[in-house]
Amino acid sequence: MSLRDVLVDELRDLYSAENQLVKALPKMAKGSSSPDLKTIFTTHLEETKGQVERLKQIFQQLEEKPTGEFCKGMEGLVAEGQEQLENDDEGALKDVAILGAALRVEHYEIAGYTAAIAIARQLGEDEVVSLLTETLNEEQQASEKVLSQAEPLFEEASADEEEEDDEELDDEEEDVEVVAAPKAKKKAATAKR
Ligand SMILES: [Fe+2]
Ligand SMILES: [Fe+2]
Repeated sequence: MSLRDVLVDELRDLYSAENQLVKALPKMAKGSSSPDLKTIFTTHLEETKGQVERLKQIFQQLEEKPTGEFCKGMEGLVAEGQEQLENDDEGALKDVAILGAALRVEHYEIAGYTAAIAIARQLGEDEVVSLLTETLNEEQQASEKVLSQAEPLFEEASADEEEEDDEELDDEEEDVEVVAAPKAKKKAATAKR
């Protein structure tokens, strides 16, 4: 096995990973409540389709086939994301969980492309390096965009929580009024005298 074979294996693994994501990203967009998060996922879906094409271009250049590997790592990450999507929770807290799954996916891709770029550079495959670097930049930007949603989602989640607390408090106040009502009447009666 040569270093070139290692590169081809790595690239096939990435090709499999990207194709799995073409299927998974629409589900993540559909399953999240935040419009911003939805937009990030749908935008990244289009980028991901471009990344698949970029990999095809690389394989042509290397005169190799893109198929033959299945990325089990991405399969696991997608399965974990699916668990978050099937979670009964709704709203901001569920979105935070989806965000965590998405961030894992992006960082896994970043690791894969970083390794492939290092090997391609060692082999003097400059064109391959430059194509892979375009994708790596997109993955890094996607990861930053996903992470940028954390703060707004935390705020939304705590606002939802306060709303729930207020509702609970209203219910408690109603209970108190019912109990306190006869006393108040008594007081009013005393005041009249
Ligand atoms: Fe990707
Ligand atoms: Fe990605």
